[in-house]
Amino acid sequence: MPSARSKVEIGPGGARYYDLFLNVLSLGQYSHFIKGVIEKMGIKPGQSILDLGSGTGRNDCFMAEKVGSQGRIVGLDISDEMLDRARKRCCKYANISFKRQRIELSLPYKEEFDKLFISFVLHGFEDRQKLGITRNAYQALKPAGAFYILDYNEFDLGRVWFPLRWAFTRWECQLAAEFLKLNIKEMLHSQGFTDFEEKFFLKGHLRLLKAVKPSVSTT
Ligand SMILES: C[S@@+](CC[C@H](N)C(=O)[O-])C[C@H]1O[C@@H](n2cnc3c(N)ncnc32)[C@H](O)[C@@H]1O
Repeated sequence: MPSARSKVEIGPGGARYYDLFLNVLSLGQYSHFIKGVIEKMGIKPGQSILDLGSGTGRNDCFMAEKVGSQGRIVGLDISDEMLDRARKRCCKYANISFKRQRIELSLPYKEEFDKLFISFVLHGFEDRQKLGITRNAYQALKPAGAFYILDYNEFDLGRVWFPLRWAFTRWECQLAAEFLKLNIKEMLHSQGFTDFEEKFFLKGHLRLLKAVKPSVSTT
């Protein structure tokens, strides 16, 4: 069940304006930003990637270019509207598929993917659901595979420039505010992930966190 403290499930009609909203918010820089993030994931031709909460598929099209025709991208999302948009947007890539799936519930993948990606989704879940998602990620990754989380970094909202603080409080959910204080590396470590690497964006307010599944499983 979705949490009442979350806004990460985009309501009816939201999918239509989702990309426009991000484009306006980033002053037209969002595609450039996300391409830069994907560039840092070290994606190689032939790799397989599972995208949790794939939204309108913008990120998946960029990743599909990187893995090439021998690779595979699978996007999971709970919103039919988002899935429709993603399928239309990515229709020229034969190596992408999208499925309706609640990502905090058990997934049917075991050691299938080289990389897992989750962007601007994890902050919208209760801690027990985050544990479900990270457990699923661990299980779906091949040994030595990497889980990439693009989301808010840990920071003190009280010290943020007032207009940004206002926007965050206005648009974001209660769980997102709690996420800013969460030690996500500790949570991932408790699930068996190791070798963390971080890249920061937007003056350190956003983070791409890489967590590796050991080549010999510890769980
Ligand atoms: C903020 S959007 C991010 C979309 C995309 N990852 C991006 O970076 O543009 C959150 C997405 O997560 C999906 N979502 C929310 N809760 C979900 C759940 N429990 N299972 C699967 N997808 C979910 C929403 O439908 C939406 O597409």
